[in-house]
Amino acid sequence: MELGKEMTAHKESYDSEDVKDLIDCLMKEQENAIAEGSAKVDSLTETHLLQTVSDLFQAGTDTTTTTLHWAVALMAQHPEIQQKVAEEVDRVVGRDRPPSVEDRGQLPYTEACMYEMLRYSTVAPVGVVHATMEDVALGNYMIPKDTWVMVNQWAIHFNEKHWDEPTKFKPEHFLDESGGVRQHPEGFLPFSFGRHVCLGESFAKAEIFILFSWLFQQYTFSIPPGHEGKFELKLDSSTGLVNQLLEYDIVAKKRF
Ligand code: HEM
Repeated sequence: MELGKEMTAHKESYDSEDVKDLIDCLMKEQENAIAEGSAKVDSLTETHLLQTVSDLFQAGTDTTTTTLHWAVALMAQHPEIQQKVAEEVDRVVGRDRPPSVEDRGQLPYTEACMYEMLRYSTVAPVGVVHATMEDVALGNYMIPKDTWVMVNQWAIHFNEKHWDEPTKFKPEHFLDESGGVRQHPEGFLPFSFGRHVCLGESFAKAEIFILFSWLFQQYTFSIPPGHEGKFELKLDSSTGLVNQLLEYDIVAKKRF
């Protein structure tokens, strides 16, 4: 979606009596702030509106949908892990209601699996590009002002110092000896860190947990017959900053 074009189209069709979606809502807030002469105007400029929509649709949506594409593909590739998740969800949640965020502490294997998927896919492999605003000393390095800086999250997520078998998809990476979930292990930074850490981190974790556990409560995903052993996850190299997968075929079978 080209957001600039979308904003222009919304401006042309805007009707304050018929607010249809988020962009219309923001335009209405802007209109009210101007009419009331409110100080809010300063945080409802055209740039703010565009950035808010971009945060929700790009920062918030691309990352989450890409993560779920990875989830389905990885679980189809690892049917034994998928079965364990489905069994845990059946045992704790049952089949009469969808999983909810309150189930999170009760589904350790499922949650560990979700974190492992965030590690293994590393959908934002170098985070978002930043730049130094002044000369900065970091360890033994001097980084001059106006240098682009990226965090190589992919390298951290596949570093043997942090993970016993980094190239393997292994939910046990996130389970401790007593079967509890390792919430913040060293070397796990899918949402980056510091002042610009992902604003949606808590929301994304809750949202992905609900969708992830629901998918495997409802469906069994498998590799199409005849493709077993040949199923490969390939990165779409045209997408730049997000680790998207190339399209793949999958069989989804309703569980009940
Ligand atoms: C799997 C899901 C997600 C992943 C892996 C992810 C990852 C990231 C990463 C790596 C950054 C860059 C941090 C930096 O600049 O160093 C970021 C920034 C951001 N994310 Fe997320 N994100 C996810 C979901 C979401 C969701 C659901 C939302 C909002 C509803 C969101 C909103 C944002 C915003 C607004 C920023 C910019 C923060 C800033 O520059 O101050 N993200 N995210």
